[in-house]
Amino acid sequence: MIHGCFQGKDIVSLDQFSVDDLSILFNVTGKMKQIAVNNEPSRILEGLLVALLFFEPSSRTFSSFAAAVKRLGGQTLEMQNPEAVSSVTKGETFEDTIRVIEAYSNAIILRHRISGAAKQAARAAEDVPVINAGDGNNEHPTQTLLDLYTLYERFGRLDNITGMMAGDALNSRTIHSLLRGLSLFGNNTMYILSPNQLSLSRDEVVSLQDRGLRLIEIHNEREIPHDCDFWYWTRIQKERFSSAEEYQQAQHEIVIATPELLKTYAKKDMILMDPLPRVESVDPAVDADERAVYLRSQIRNGLYTRMALLALVLGRI
Ligand code: NCD
Repeated sequence: MIHGCFQGKDIVSLDQFSVDDLSILFNVTGKMKQIAVNNEPSRILEGLLVALLFFEPSSRTFSSFAAAVKRLGGQTLEMQNPEAVSSVTKGETFEDTIRVIEAYSNAIILRHRISGAAKQAARAAEDVPVINAGDGNNEHPTQTLLDLYTLYERFGRLDNITGMMAGDALNSRTIHSLLRGLSLFGNNTMYILSPNQLSLSRDEVVSLQDRGLRLIEIHNEREIPHDCDFWYWTRIQKERFSSAEEYQQAQHEIVIATPELLKTYAKKDMILMDPLPRVESVDPAVDADERAVYLRSQIRNGLYTRMALLALVLGRI
């Protein structure tokens, strides 16, 4: 748990955050936004080096973390695809790789295809904090920080919200972490629109309901409610499927966000989010709709929230 003190903490799961921790982070995020928007030179992370260790492909998370460190005057050590280019190819253990990288850096940002890898790295790293940038189909806490901030900025609250998450609820780590985040606040109702075989696991449903989140699982377009404050669309996570047939079958059954869908089911003042990349999730014809925030505030908030998290975890604010 963070308990108001971010300094030196590993950030592995959204479950470590309380409402107060989020409020501290959002407060700092506002300040970080000013630095970035005004191109203010910053020395907040001066003298510090942050390692970006990405075992899985990434565009936004990798570049927004790199940009966040550099916007704050720090430096990065960047390793993408270590399984192809580093001693990992020679059979080095994951723990050894982490121990080596921590010797060179002040924090490690880790993305990995295996669920639980972030926790494992946090255990291996003795001296520096590890931040989970997505581990398998488990969690993606920093994506949730930016998603929650985007909702908070738009609605001024994170309780009393009705939303719909669509796509691959079983495998999408961004959905898993966001549901945990929203379960911290009262009176939230989430509709989950997914093909039957990509529903949330039963364990996850029970645990979220125990925390007070109202979850309603739906499986086709006609069940979409008309009163959502936001939609959160995700792609089918192709890389998590064991066979091409299973993937194609799922793809066949998904609902895509189109202008017609918005016209039929969406409120005027809702927002449409997508963690991206969008692959048959949101029709580009929707981009011009001002409710579509995925290429606008949602993406920018990824930079500001990561700047805030780094400044806090590295004890510079
Ligand atoms: C997501 C991820 O990697 O989990 N992307 C991201 O980090 N913004 C979503 C995805 O891959 O579908």
